[in-house]
Amino acid sequence: MKEEILRIQEEALASIAKVDSMRAIEDVRVAILGKKGTLTMAQSGMKDVPKEDKPAVGQMLNDVRRAISTALDEKLDQLQVEADRQSVAGIDLTLPGRSVAVGGIHPISIIRDEAIRVLRRMGFVLADGPDIEDEFHCFDALNTPTDHPARNEKDSFYFDSGKLLRTHTSSVQIRTMEKQNPPVRIIAPGSAYRRDEIDATHLSVFNQLEGLYVDKDVTIGDLKGTLEYFLQALFGQETEVRFRPHFFPFTEPSFEIDVKLKVAGCEPKWVEIAGCGMVDPAVFEAVDSSRGNKEYEGMTGFAFGIGLDRLAMIRWGIRDIRALIENDVRFLSQLQ
Ligand code: DAH
Repeated sequence: MKEEILRIQEEALASIAKVDSMRAIEDVRVAILGKKGTLTMAQSGMKDVPKEDKPAVGQMLNDVRRAISTALDEKLDQLQVEADRQSVAGIDLTLPGRSVAVGGIHPISIIRDEAIRVLRRMGFVLADGPDIEDEFHCFDALNTPTDHPARNEKDSFYFDSGKLLRTHTSSVQIRTMEKQNPPVRIIAPGSAYRRDEIDATHLSVFNQLEGLYVDKDVTIGDLKGTLEYFLQALFGQETEVRFRPHFFPFTEPSFEIDVKLKVAGCEPKWVEIAGCGMVDPAVFEAVDSSRGNKEYEGMTGFAFGIGLDRLAMIRWGIRDIRALIENDVRFLSQLQ
């Protein structure tokens, strides 16, 4: 029995020494120490060993098992070290690391965040409303008659339910006043949708920033001062701004605001960036009747809707608005 155990040990150590892969080492372990392994089988011969020899043979079996087990573990370590060494062989560890391309913030998000920062300093708080609107919030409450061109199916995106993708963020004015008593001082950035022909200055999905200021005794001076201050904070003191009389159903009087776009090597040109005006009393009336009280009666206020994509054009001197949505990283990464 003892000779047999010694023979098994000798053979085992010899085959462990020959093994050259981590997979094979496991096979050897099973072949010797497994349930049907050579050593395990030898162990079952214990029952035929004379009683007085049992302790010594038992001890021997344990020692041999431990010795083989240790040899297997050491071989495994050795193979692991070798595998690690090979996996980095050929890599020059003294080379500088590869730089990882980090994403950037889209120019429209940059300008939107800057605009929000300036307006928050002036006391405006953020408000929100749904992109899928009903005609009441998008048009009726904003004093827009049923035959107004913006309400035409050809100009807006309607759902079968009669709801539509909001044509402007002005609907948030109504949503806010329905919830909140005056005074109100909110801004609402978001998407607006129109079936416009897409060209150098128009997209069918674009970004607006709505503003509404309601209190007692608000004047055109407040409107003009606020927006001029805002545009100069955004584009610099020397920015040229002009207010042109215009018509919007929900403001009276109304204006469009143009800013001079200057691109090196091109004629400077005026770009329309916003609509604004003094809130028409008909809007307050619609809000009051929807709320069922008279909180807004006799209030005054101004409102504005700024095109964020247009602001980006002015900031970076972009002549074609489509460049902002084509997602050409070579172009966008220049605008930070
Ligand atoms: N909603 C208008 C548009 O999308 C812009 C606008 C004009 C917003 C005048 C206003 C406003 O709040 O007072 O063309």
